[in-house]
Amino acid sequence: MPLIEDVVEVLGTTYKGRPPGTFGKAGVFSFNSNKIITTSGGGMLVSDDAERIAHARKLATQARDPAPHYQHSEIGYNYRLSNVLAAIGRGQLQVLEDRVQARRRKPVLSLSKGSTTTSRPSATCPVSPPCPKPPGAATPVG
Ligand SMILES: Cc1ncc(COP(=O)(O)O)c(C=O)c1O
Repeated sequence: MPLIEDVVEVLGTTYKGRPPGTFGKAGVFSFNSNKIITTSGGGMLVSDDAERIAHARKLATQARDPAPHYQHSEIGYNYRLSNVLAAIGRGQLQVLEDRVQARRRKPVLSLSKGSTTTSRPSATCPVSPPCPKPPGAATPVG
């Protein structure tokens, strides 16, 4: 079964020295506005399979067949990321590392006195230890 990685939440990290999206047949990233870097919408498909990428690009750009007239032999979509948004994304890449580091420093949950839950430092630093422990952080529960 081919593995397509949903790597939306891990852009900028590595696992065992490899970036996400490189373990399976393809990886999918989102640049929606709530993501670590954003182009306001859209995303990115990565793969080392040039044929797969070419087909995905065709489907994302209305799947027009290479004919002088308008001909579609498969269903296409209008999922293209405009060149303006791509340029914004390239600019955003320059702040990616800073944002990854900032996220690693930030506790996921704040610990209140008497609470049975705790911040989870491991969740702020999923793949590249050692992680800085947030002040007052307790041992993760559960
Ligand atoms: C793991 C994961 N996959 C997919 C999505 C969907 O991404 P989008 O915001 O582009 O719809 C999200 C959104 O937060 C996500 O966290």
